[in-house]
Amino acid sequence: MTWYVGTVVVVMAAFSLLLYLSLRRSLLASTDEALRNTAQDITTALIEEHDEAVGVIVSECITDKHHAGQVQVLVRPAFGPPDQILAVFTGEPAAESLPLTAAARGGALRGSASFETSGPVRGSAWRTLTFAVRDVGAQYIIQVGMSLKPVTETLRRLAVTLLVSVPLLLAVLTLFGYFFIRGAFQPVRRMVATVHSIRADDLSRRVTDVESPDEIGELAATFNAMLGRIERAFDEVRQFSSDAAHELKTPLTALRGEMEVALRKEREPAEYRAVLASGLEEAAKLERIIDDLLLLARTDAPSSTLMNEPVALDEVVLEAHEETCMQAERMGVSLILNKLDQVGIKGNAMLVRRLLVNLIDNGVKYNRPGGNVSVTLGLEPGDNEARLVVEDTGIGIPAESLPHLFDRFYRVDKARSRDVGGTGLGLAIVKRVAEAHGGMVTVESKPGKGSRFTVVLPVAD
Ligand SMILES: Nc1ncnc2c1ncn2[C@@H]1O[C@H](COP(=O)(O)OP(=O)(O)O)[C@@H](O)[C@H]1O
Ligand SMILES: [Mg+2]
Repeated sequence: MTWYVGTVVVVMAAFSLLLYLSLRRSLLASTDEALRNTAQDITTALIEEHDEAVGVIVSECITDKHHAGQVQVLVRPAFGPPDQILAVFTGEPAAESLPLTAAARGGALRGSASFETSGPVRGSAWRTLTFAVRDVGAQYIIQVGMSLKPVTETLRRLAVTLLVSVPLLLAVLTLFGYFFIRGAFQPVRRMVATVHSIRADDLSRRVTDVESPDEIGELAATFNAMLGRIERAFDEVRQFSSDAAHELKTPLTALRGEMEVALRKEREPAEYRAVLASGLEEAAKLERIIDDLLLLARTDAPSSTLMNEPVALDEVVLEAHEETCMQAERMGVSLILNKLDQVGIKGNAMLVRRLLVNLIDNGVKYNRPGGNVSVTLGLEPGDNEARLVVEDTGIGIPAESLPHLFDRFYRVDKARSRDVGGTGLGLAIVKRVAEAHGGMVTVESKPGKGSRFTVVLPVAD
């Protein structure tokens, strides 16, 4: 606001000054022009009519052209006492005569006409043109003077007008600017107020003004989109915390129940052993969940050093195969290694192995005895993406579950997953690891027939 008023003040002051100066300049110029014309008329008349009296000639040149009292003509002898006056035309009786300065007289005698502005004579400044006329019988020094009163009067009126109207205009503009800016910033203020009122526990609020077509509307829409993302992220975190608490509580409740029952009376050592063994199982479950949660937390914000080692994918596949083949054998599922191209990527070998183990583990767990799981690692010539495919002949996944499959703690069949020791975090980890390596994971499945998980990873250059 201040800069706006400041700018307007400076612009208007400059404009006023310019107007005043240029008017003054042109008024003075036209005064000089009028003086020059009169001087020309007098000179011509004096030369043409030199038999008439000087005073008559001069007054003939003046009377009908100028206002009385505003023009004065003095005729003095060129040679003689400087204050001698041969003829005066003043337009007014008993008027004070214009003085003749030595400089003007000297100039006229040397043949040059000179303009002078003299101090107040009869209440106003005068502009005088002094020149000599020589081509006649007598020689004269002639002064033609014009009062500057009309000029100063005009300029004074302009000054007064400017001094009154400029501050008035300024006030109007300032007021207008104030209301304009206020109006323009009204939506922004509303937005700020809304944003102030948004707290973490109420992220459903939205900024209005989205429908205004200008930048404000765009800002509001952008803001709302951001709020939407934050709200979704918050909801996810909330959901995740409650899911995690629930998942952790289940084995703990089981553990506690068994211990309480065992403690109710004296028992045989074999019974104690059974309770301890089952407690150990629950503890192992807890440990698995916590391990997976820690791993997810690490992949959520992977440090660049963690993700920067060269990884030989084919070796990782062999390691993962080794880690899962015992379990596959136990479940009566055969684990097949298909094509195994040599592929190097940049990332973290431990995480990629986890990704693969999770996929193979699922393929084995959600299978049927006699089924199989096959792993393929392929790199087409000239291709810069490695394709890791884990395919099984298992129970498959219903289509409606596919969109949620990679969510944390999501399971198609909770009971079955728990029975086989699943935490519901396996595929979430797969997705996070693939994305942390700049890749992605997709799934195709036919219920009752089997599933195929494809991981695409960019190869190292
Ligand atoms: N190969 C597969 N065949 C059938 N269902 C699968 C397969 N992989 C995953 N699923 C389903 O997706 C769910 C999520 O998998 P995951 O995140 O690994 O959790 P978990 O294995 O601990 O249950 C599983 O509970 C299961 O219902
Ligand atoms: Mg799993």
